Amino acid sequence: MADLPTRTLQASDDATAEAARALRNGGLVAFPTETVYGLGADAANPKAVARLYAAKGRPSFNPLIAHVDGLPAAGRLAVFSAEALALAQAFWPGPLTLVLPKAPGCPVCDLATAGLDSVALRLPAHPVAEAILRAFGGAVVAPSANRSGHVSPTQAAHVAEDLSGRIDLIVDGGPVRIGVESTIVGCLGAPVLLRPGGVPRAAIERVLGRPLGESPSAAGHAADAPLAPGMLASHYAPAARVRLEAREVGPGEALLAFGPQTLPGADQASAVRNLSPRGDLVEAAANLFGMVRELDGIGAKSITVMPVPRHDLGEAINDLLARAAAPRGLKPD
Ligand code: TXA
Ligand code: MG
Repeated sequence: MADLPTRTLQASDDATAEAARALRNGGLVAFPTETVYGLGADAANPKAVARLYAAKGRPSFNPLIAHVDGLPAAGRLAVFSAEALALAQAFWPGPLTLVLPKAPGCPVCDLATAGLDSVALRLPAHPVAEAILRAFGGAVVAPSANRSGHVSPTQAAHVAEDLSGRIDLIVDGGPVRIGVESTIVGCLGAPVLLRPGGVPRAAIERVLGRPLGESPSAAGHAADAPLAPGMLASHYAPAARVRLEAREVGPGEALLAFGPQTLPGADQASAVRNLSPRGDLVEAAANLFGMVRELDGIGAKSITVMPVPRHDLGEAINDLLARAAAPRGLKPD
């Protein structure tokens, strides 16, 4: 992973065009927003999103924020309640992220939302971010442009220190204005505060005309940690039973393979998908949600999964598979 020639360009029309081209090619581009520098990837491209998780070194597929260049684009990705629309109109562009139900046909890939049926959206108020989003023309997922566990970058030099060699391009637009991340409000029911940030709670409550609900997990929430650890588990539940670390395939089971080997009994499997025949963890992450969905769609009663190594992205892949395999009774919901 640490072998990309990361280029830094001063913000300009050329840099914008270069950034849009890199995003279209599945590349990773760091750019300034008004809150912190973000590390962007094409939200619709699971290979790009897998590379992004690998570059950040996150131990789990924490869902990402999709950045768009306007309300019309946002409306194609998610379903807005009246209250969500009021918040968007009051604070966008700006440091507010809304978690909303995914719209039918929402192009943000399952890997980017960690399999949730909601999506986090934000319109950044920064001329460089806006220009890149407009030139690219699609949604860009962007976590803060730092390695997992490190502090969020407020200038391009911080991004370079943390991610040089792991990403394609850094667009330098100078130091950011706000320096803390966006406020996240969940709008899946009555609005709740999921993460405090750049827009103060009181300003949001003034627009809503009522207090924001409190997410049970928001207090003491670390910037890089999932908002509600149980929440992801409860929302990623294939219909099929999932059996991990399989050493053989039972009759009629579907097989989710990894690497060049096969398992005893594989010829009796009802269906086979291979996350990465050459044993590449980034490729496996890119294929993970789609292949589990396919095997589930075929109606397999049980999906048996070959062992996946636990290093690098393997940690996040195993974390996700463990959630999928957790007995239903243990899933909070
Ligand atoms: O200011 C910001 O928001 C920056 C800039 C780059 O835009 N981005 C940022 O992203 O802070 P990140 O990945 O560091 O934080 C995103 C947060 C995570 O805590 C994640 O759990 C939450 O958003 N999130 C994303 N999608 C979600 C969803 N569908 N439901 C609940 N939480 C979600
Ligand atoms: Mg962060």
